[in-house]
Amino acid sequence: MPERKEKFYLTTPIYYTNGLPHVGHTYTTVVCDTVRRYKRMRGYDVVMTTGTDEHGVNVERAAKKAGIPESEFVANMAEAWRALWDELGIAADEFVRTTDIKHVRAVQWLFKLCKENGYVYKGHYTGQYCIYDNAFVNDAKPGENCPDCGRPLETLTEQNYFFKLSAFQKPLLDFYRKNPDFIQPESRKNEIVTFVEGGLKDLSITRTTIRWGIPVPGEEPHVFYVWFDALTAYLSAVGGPDYEKRGMWPADVHFVGKDIIRFHTVYWPAFLMAAMLPLPKQVWAHGWFLMDAAKMSKSKGNVVLPRPIANMLGMDALRYFMLREVVFGQDGNFSYDSLVTRYNSDLANGLGNLASRTAALIEKNFAGRVPKPAERQAQDDALAKEAQSAIGEVLERFDKMEFARALEAIWGVIAAADKYLTTEQPWALGTSEADLERKATILWTSAELLRIVSALAHPVLPDSTAKVWTLLGQTTSLDSVELDGLRWGQLVPGTALGKSQTLFPRVEKTEAIERIESMANEELNSASAAPKPASAPAAPATTAAATAAPVVPEKIGIEDFAKVEMRVGQIKTAERIVGADKLLKLTVDIGTEIRQICAGIAQYYEPEALIGRKVAVVVNLAPRKLRGVESNGMVVAASVGPEGRPVLAGFLEDVEVGARLK
Ligand code: MSP
Repeated sequence: MPERKEKFYLTTPIYYTNGLPHVGHTYTTVVCDTVRRYKRMRGYDVVMTTGTDEHGVNVERAAKKAGIPESEFVANMAEAWRALWDELGIAADEFVRTTDIKHVRAVQWLFKLCKENGYVYKGHYTGQYCIYDNAFVNDAKPGENCPDCGRPLETLTEQNYFFKLSAFQKPLLDFYRKNPDFIQPESRKNEIVTFVEGGLKDLSITRTTIRWGIPVPGEEPHVFYVWFDALTAYLSAVGGPDYEKRGMWPADVHFVGKDIIRFHTVYWPAFLMAAMLPLPKQVWAHGWFLMDAAKMSKSKGNVVLPRPIANMLGMDALRYFMLREVVFGQDGNFSYDSLVTRYNSDLANGLGNLASRTAALIEKNFAGRVPKPAERQAQDDALAKEAQSAIGEVLERFDKMEFARALEAIWGVIAAADKYLTTEQPWALGTSEADLERKATILWTSAELLRIVSALAHPVLPDSTAKVWTLLGQTTSLDSVELDGLRWGQLVPGTALGKSQTLFPRVEKTEAIERIESMANEELNSASAAPKPASAPAAPATTAAATAAPVVPEKIGIEDFAKVEMRVGQIKTAERIVGADKLLKLTVDIGTEIRQICAGIAQYYEPEALIGRKVAVVVNLAPRKLRGVESNGMVVAASVGPEGRPVLAGFLEDVEVGARLK
């Protein structure tokens, strides 16, 4: 433990405001929050920054589409991001918005320093630009698509300010050599070193074609290019020009996804070197959460939303799953099936069951007070030893960002305790003095183990471990417990247990998945019901968005209705989906093609009766997976009665397949 409080500064990327958080963004943020909590429990003075990246042509266009000023648009979106983080137990200390005045000043200051030191010059640039990623794509030819997101590039020629990135090839390579831990994991380091060794081109850092950006002082209409603007957020969050006063800079670790590692390990240190400012100590690039082997993205229609999962299983379940399931640094697959399986086995049957069993037995046998252990037997000592040695192992794993291994070690101890209770059977002991003593020893041991486990797992499961802590009668706040002082044997006999509560009620898998998916669909539908920005929902279905200034006009114009392409379709095949009671898988002829569409009508329609039926189909809905089955369009139905019974819309006259509904 540090003697006096050592500082630790960590950051998430700042997220674009033209979309809402999905499980991918949530992952980076949860990791960062976990480390923040962990470091605090190791006695550090910690600051964590997250925030929103609010400038650029995407936002300009999205706001225009939504019919509101950019400032209002980004304020709504920032609020929605902030609210979701709150709901997921993310306790960032700083939420920086790139439209904050303190950030604007910091960017202008950094530019001035780079310019004064001779690393900035004026020039012309013509190139292929991806408006979605806010980046020129080097070497791309006109007419090509963006190699990252696959969307069309645009040709742009501008007078720009350039940053002399080319001057930093050697300094950067020297820096990587002298700071071997700067880029993590190791595999990513090689990729970056090879890239820098290949030569660095100067970088255009301002734009004159974009209006929505931070102005370059005295050089209007130049505004800063998004990455020069965005990266500076890490510094502006902790003081900007006055960073020395706050004492947090340089960052100890920037957590990022592998998609943006180059910006963080090449551009960012080069900007800082040019300005002669201290460099961050580490950039940790994790892998992607994949859905069916592809990176989640709204345009692919394969995003998983965090809120429905948190609503159904609790935010801790999502946090636990993300950190337990994937080796940090590598890509991982997201599946509702494994999420719910882990929830039931590790949380409901594991931690939850151990806590409720132990508390109930103490309640029943010792009037709700932690009993005083009597003489210990070998098996008690063995469990104590296992728990004590887990403390060291877990800390070591957390230090190395091996979250899955840390959790594995903690759950190893939980499993051992479970086995111990099953073997010792305290419930089968009688009321003789010897039996009571034995019972006391067993239950004290089990409760002490729970105390240790709660403290160790707290950074990952802040909510439920705090409940176990209170259940064990602990009055200090679990956040403030110092892990370095955690030892076996500190549970004081006689402590009155707190009120018992259900931690993780077991769920039935199929039903849980259906509920999560239906909440997710509702959230996506209500977001897309609003006139939305090019690549993002404008009116997110969040509590925060609901209270923020409304984005949605009460009535829509005909041009909005025209966006929905509805056509007459004819059902060709219909079948039930195994494990999804409510869904039917249909193939529907829409005139130009045969589409596969899932419809939530299985409880009301027999598949055979649907063959040949003509229905109204929304054909330009982004494809989406339902229970792992792709659904490419939507069959329109009325929702009848309080239970929302679906009644398919149809036609009284014969209509041609493919005819458009207007
Ligand atoms: N605004 C820039 C970052 C500027 S930082 C100075 C940006 N924003 S973003 O909204 O696109 O968020 C990118 C980050 O979200 C990724 O780097 C990653 O951390 C996270 N993820 C987005 N999708 C992801 C997955 N599917 N899986 C895991 N994380 C991913 O880029």
